[in-house]
Amino acid sequence: MILQIHSYWAYLTLGLLLVAFLNAILGLMSKNNFFSKDLRISLFTLIVAHIQLLIGFAWYFMSPAYQSLKDLGMGAAMKDSHLRLLTVEHPLMMILAIIFITIGYSKHKKKEEASAEFKTIAIYYGIALILVLSRLPWQQWFEQ
Ligand code: HEM
Repeated sequence: MILQIHSYWAYLTLGLLLVAFLNAILGLMSKNNFFSKDLRISLFTLIVAHIQLLIGFAWYFMSPAYQSLKDLGMGAAMKDSHLRLLTVEHPLMMILAIIFITIGYSKHKKKEEASAEFKTIAIYYGIALILVLSRLPWQQWFEQ
């Protein structure tokens, strides 16, 4: 059940992160003002990503992958690339990505000019997007 929520919520998180990043690039290129819709897109992305973080933590300790990690021990588990992805690489990279989103969101609020706001969102959300894309368990996701 929690894995399914985590799996479906991932579409929303990834989709919004992409929209927020592209919206920031477009805003930067068209030299638009930073409107309330831009604020809402970046805030909504932040909230959705934080919810995914909580669901991820809840699932982590119940997951079969974590059970295998405990059974096999860290050393043996790290030799299995799929188990390493699920128990270490994916969670750590997603946490790092959400840290980037959070820093980007709070930094953009302190900027006065629209271009600086768009640029901050584009950089931090862009890095977060790359981190997320790099360590999703793609195969497992689409097999669900
Ligand atoms: C931006 C944040 C995140 C995204 C987009 C994301 C996305 C995903 C996706 C798409 C899957 C595959 C689901 C499936 O098999 O259908 C997955 C699996 C998993 N995620 Fe995340 N995740 C995020 C954050 C986290 C965090 C923070 C944790 C833990 C602290 C976590 C723990 C896990 C675990 C343990 C699995 C493997 C489930 C299994 O045992 O099969 N995730 N995640």
